[in-house]
Amino acid sequence: MNTTNRRFNLFRRATADSLLWRLLTESLPEHKGKYAAAIAAMVLVASTTALSAWVMGEIVDAMTDAENKRRIYWVATSVFLIFTAKGFASFAQTVLMARAGNRIVAEKQTSLFKRLLGQGIAFFNTTESSDLLLRVTQSAQMARNVIDVVVTGFVRDLLTLIGLVAVMFYQQPFLSLISLVVGPAAVLGVRMILTKVRAIMAQEMAGLAEIIKVVQETSTGARVIKAFALEEVMQRRMASAVRDVEKRSNKMVRLESATSPLMDTLTGAAIAAIVLLSSTSFAGQSVGTPGQLMSFVTAFLMAYEPAKRLSRMRVTIEAGMVGVRMMYDLLDMPLTLTEAPDAQKLTVGPGKVTLNNVSFGYANGAPVIHDLDLTFEAGQTTALVGPSGGGKSTILNLLLRLYDPSEGVVCIDGSDIRQATFASLREKIAFVGQDTFLFSNTVMENLRVARPNATDEEVFDAARVAHAHDFIEALPGGYQTHIGENGAFLSGGQRQRLSITRAVLRHAPILLLDEATSALDSQSEAYIRDALARVSAGVTTIVIAHRLATVLEADKICYIEAGEVKEQGTLQELLAKGGKFKKLYETQFQNG
Ligand SMILES: Nc1ncnc2c1ncn2[C@@H]1O[C@H](COP(=O)(O)OP(=O)(O)OP(=O)(O)O)[C@@H](O)[C@H]1O
Ligand SMILES: [Mg+2]
Repeated sequence: MNTTNRRFNLFRRATADSLLWRLLTESLPEHKGKYAAAIAAMVLVASTTALSAWVMGEIVDAMTDAENKRRIYWVATSVFLIFTAKGFASFAQTVLMARAGNRIVAEKQTSLFKRLLGQGIAFFNTTESSDLLLRVTQSAQMARNVIDVVVTGFVRDLLTLIGLVAVMFYQQPFLSLISLVVGPAAVLGVRMILTKVRAIMAQEMAGLAEIIKVVQETSTGARVIKAFALEEVMQRRMASAVRDVEKRSNKMVRLESATSPLMDTLTGAAIAAIVLLSSTSFAGQSVGTPGQLMSFVTAFLMAYEPAKRLSRMRVTIEAGMVGVRMMYDLLDMPLTLTEAPDAQKLTVGPGKVTLNNVSFGYANGAPVIHDLDLTFEAGQTTALVGPSGGGKSTILNLLLRLYDPSEGVVCIDGSDIRQATFASLREKIAFVGQDTFLFSNTVMENLRVARPNATDEEVFDAARVAHAHDFIEALPGGYQTHIGENGAFLSGGQRQRLSITRAVLRHAPILLLDEATSALDSQSEAYIRDALARVSAGVTTIVIAHRLATVLEADKICYIEAGEVKEQGTLQELLAKGGKFKKLYETQFQNG
């Protein structure tokens, strides 16, 4: 959470109220049709509720006046109609609100995810996936709840309350004045609860993120956990996260419900007072007919629910605002790496790659690449070698435009890749990394990511080139075999060959290879080397070399150390020079 939160915090200045305003003004006008219909239903709910309180008086009075049949029929019909209308209005209101709300959740989740996809790699490095999961799944839902509470609160509950209070005043003005003391007292009580809710809800979300993270790490790191017997440790982490969330949830409920004893006590006191007062008379005047009293007490009791919800509204909104804030943090996060507004397709060319005076450092770290000048000739193979941490993978990252250099330019066939569309840039480059990410899908679909419109035959051919066809055919379902989450059912060498098949399918003029450091058996290694030799034939190949064979096959070798090119040339030239490369050659490659 640490770095993430610090970054998100930058945007936390917006006050809760302005955020709430933004949420409402963004969402309500967009769905005004749905909300107008829901509000119409709410008006009907509010008026039928008030009417049902009023009609109670009529019932009592009609029954004490049993001679008057017409009145009885009239009251009976009204009661039936009022309650039927109320039932249908409630139904319509619930359905309409849910529709509008679900639409908003869907839209917000879509835009959250779109925003996520638009971010550069730097964003994903510094943002934890558990945090993102929580933001995309939960925060939109919480935003919707806030909208629901606001709309139902201000329309249905408020109108219902006004209607019922009107009935109370109509029937018993004096008693109504007395009972209104309840209102202000309740508001004061709620005030005190608000600030606490805000803090607890934020911690609650952090706790949920931790639970997601533990589960996620248990799933992705299952091998390490088993190998190092970390079950106990994970169990403890989970237990503490779960306990935290449990404690906070309890506290939250306690606070949210603290309004109940407050309101109940006040209501009880008010009703008791009314009962006592109703038996007496004031200034020689009787308090009214039994019907009026009945109607008044009914209205008062019915007013209790909407009043309680209204008194609690601020608390509920405040809790939901934590989610709204999380949502807008992500939506407002500046995109770290974007396509130029006037981006052009990269020119068609042989695939010559140049870095001119390139400097680069990862976010808030030391510079990693210093004023680098490098040329990768079209159609040739260049091997990057050098000590660990020297910046080799970083150079490939810059070529893929996963990051932009802080100074200098990276060009392909003479054009700055920052001016190119992402699509045309990525089309030019095939990348085979140290580890292969595979989607939980069939082999066929995993290969097709490299060229979605490839025919089956083209995929088979590419797999043959990459020495993958035979082992794929031998899988239980051939190309249609499901390979599990991140290819769990495949061996390391097989995964690499799938990765190479993707590169072959891509037909790109530039091939970037980060050679796997893990040792494979000699048969697999021979397959992979042969496959790579075939893909790299005739294309500009830049390979981070960990094996002697790769170095021997390269047209040119660059020795990279501390973000600078220390030596470059052919194998013979570098060996003759007797410098750093020769030393590396003797220690790392010779005994290999
Ligand atoms: N995402 C990142 N964020 C911050 N620093 C990074 C990141 N990736 C790499 N670095 C740092 O940049 C430097 C160069 O790393 P790089 O991965 O380019 O080295 P390398 O030459 O590929 O090493 P190796 O041979 O071990 O793969 C290292 O000091 C590393 O700590
Ligand atoms: Mg590396």
